Amino acid sequence: MKIIKTTNEMRSLALEEKISEKRIACVPTMGFLHEGHLSLIKRAKQVADVVVVTLFVNPTQFSPNEDFAQYPRDLQRDSELCLAAGADYLFAPSAEEIYPAGYNTEVTVKGVSELFEGKFRPIHFNGVATVVAKLFNIIHPDYAVFGQKDYQQTLVVKQMVRDLLLGVEIIVAPIIRENSGLAKSSRNTYLSDEQKTQALVLSQSLKLAADAIAAGETKSAKINKIMHDNIEKSAFSKIDYACAARAKDLTEPEEFAHGEEVVLLIAAYLGKVRLIDNCLVTIK
Ligand code: PAJ
Repeated sequence: MKIIKTTNEMRSLALEEKISEKRIACVPTMGFLHEGHLSLIKRAKQVADVVVVTLFVNPTQFSPNEDFAQYPRDLQRDSELCLAAGADYLFAPSAEEIYPAGYNTEVTVKGVSELFEGKFRPIHFNGVATVVAKLFNIIHPDYAVFGQKDYQQTLVVKQMVRDLLLGVEIIVAPIIRENSGLAKSSRNTYLSDEQKTQALVLSQSLKLAADAIAAGETKSAKINKIMHDNIEKSAFSKIDYACAARAKDLTEPEEFAHGEEVVLLIAAYLGKVRLIDNCLVTIK
């Protein structure tokens, strides 16, 4: 596995692979890899000849009050994990490579970016769309693999790919969880053991709502209340949202139609740590 630090080198190596008719899959990450990320690399290997993992803690997707400075970083550990998972290239550029001095262009995806996460993290998806567009422009992958863990992000990226005619097939891989049910996340390193147990309320709340849907519930207010009530009586201090929405576009009807695919989305704070989780269900 080659570790690449510059845009020029990454661009020419990816081009060489393309000229040799290799199909490239890209796995964008911010590093501090865990089994969730590794599952994406494995998925990428199944669909393509060459896997490029990108590792870049993207400053533009963090607001000034967020955890950019604290975000865990360990290139040595990440490169060993990427190698073991079968990546061919690890592209780990500096901020100057991705944001050259004086840069003044960004990508804004309207609509789906403005809902849920967009309301609480207003600049977040601009930063995500901008960096993903840049990575796609450097690597020109045939495929890119993203995790369902960041469900709204997958919709934003798909919309951008459609709108800007980027020609990258977006693959969404399932959420990898601890045996306890806690969704794996680089940010779980911020949690104490006690908080990791308390955090199970998120996956439990999703399950309660999914069970209600399986039992025939179709009204969004009732589904949302099940999640809210369960989180409110827990150690979580603040709920940004705990909602059912249409999986295709995150709109929120009062009542879901039979056969409709729904995503249950939660973002809430355990102490200072903001956690997200979600689950896909089909209305009976
Ligand atoms: P990061 O949080 O490092 O996540 C990288 C990819 O791993 C994302 O597609 C995310 O959904 C996926 N992922 C994280 N936890 C997962 C889990 N438990 N199971 C399955 N997949 C999981 O998401 C980002 O970075 C950034 O926004 C990025 C797309 C790299 C742009 O900067």
